[in-house]
Amino acid sequence: MNKIPITRPYTGKEEAEAVSSVLSGGWLVQGRRVREFECGIAEHEGVKYGCAVTSCTAALQLAMLAEGMGEGMDVLVPSFTFVATANAVVATGATPVLMDVDERTFNIDVDYTEKYIRENYEQKGSELVGRGSGNRLWGIVPVHQFGLCADMPAINRLAQSYGLRVIEDAACALGAGIGNTSIGGFGHTACVSFHPRKSITTGEGGMILTNDREVYQRALELRNHGSAVASDERHSNRGYLLPEFVRAGYNFRMTDLQAAIGWEQLKKLDFILRRRREIAEYYDRLFEGKSKVIRTPYVPGGYGHAFQSYVCFLDFKEDTAAGGRRRNAVMERLDGAGVATRQGTHAVHKLDYYQKRFGYRNEDLPSADRCDSLTVSLPVFVEITKAEQEKVRDELLKAVEG
Ligand SMILES: Cc1ncc(COP(=O)(O)O)c(C=O)c1O
Repeated sequence: MNKIPITRPYTGKEEAEAVSSVLSGGWLVQGRRVREFECGIAEHEGVKYGCAVTSCTAALQLAMLAEGMGEGMDVLVPSFTFVATANAVVATGATPVLMDVDERTFNIDVDYTEKYIRENYEQKGSELVGRGSGNRLWGIVPVHQFGLCADMPAINRLAQSYGLRVIEDAACALGAGIGNTSIGGFGHTACVSFHPRKSITTGEGGMILTNDREVYQRALELRNHGSAVASDERHSNRGYLLPEFVRAGYNFRMTDLQAAIGWEQLKKLDFILRRRREIAEYYDRLFEGKSKVIRTPYVPGGYGHAFQSYVCFLDFKEDTAAGGRRRNAVMERLDGAGVATRQGTHAVHKLDYYQKRFGYRNEDLPSADRCDSLTVSLPVFVEITKAEQEKVRDELLKAVEG
């Protein structure tokens, strides 16, 4: 039986030829191709600077360090997100404080967040300080989950009124926006991913998008061991000497091989985004009026969803744990019927490390808990056929209602 996969990257001979041309050119590490790719993505999203790195996880960590996050600081992060969002905060030495989410959008619940700030922090001079921890509240990392922007106008209001910084985790959201504003254009630095499950891929890869020249400059240095000079610049000008290193950095550089793939992918991005939206609309139509349990993705008016994933919420009436077992049985049955699915994502506050280190319990953030247990992501990729989508619908309905 041919299984319908959860995703299939949309690559072809253009990407293969681009890699081959880099190989025959002899410069494989970060160089001209990376710069071209950075400019192309930044232009597509309407921001000034792009800094390509090895993954979105690396992008988040660098952006956070470049913006000054570190020890003794609290950072508000939605719990229903891939663990990389919170891990990046931990890697800077700061403390991720997990927030509940909105079950309709799967994004950070801004009302919950505001209430949490009021109840848990107090103003001391120009800073908000945790009543229990003594940590300074540094900022918020909203996640544009599955390609739908978080409520950025409300987050900006909150950030402004409490003097907080914001870094957008836009791993899934290349091409997403609200009105005419794209990710990275809400006044903050944003980080995107080029993992194969995302709209376009470089194998692994990520990028920091920002309009802030200083943040950009610091990110460039941090990704290259703390050097102010890129390797190809150095080798084309007195390369026999090592450059100055102005801070302690990392090797988070993307290769020209990856960037050459990314450049070809970028040419296909608008088509891929259109196709993803078309696929999502067809699923919407297929499920319309068919089930009281299956809730298809909600898109608020004016939001441009990038549909990195098409995630349904299975609104079982049992308690969360029992509902979760039913959801797992549904995914098992679909797997047997030749349809690959995945849980939407997980709730970080339910993960072992976060429970042991920070003392979270599953019931602390009930909506994130429910999203973790009751979501199911359906196959979305450019080449999926209508017949395959119809099979996904039929099998999901059988598994849920049967
Ligand atoms: C919300 C979110 N943030 C960060 C990441 C990490 O991205 P990468 O795999 O490029 O490191 C992912 C990956 O799926 C993600 O979904």
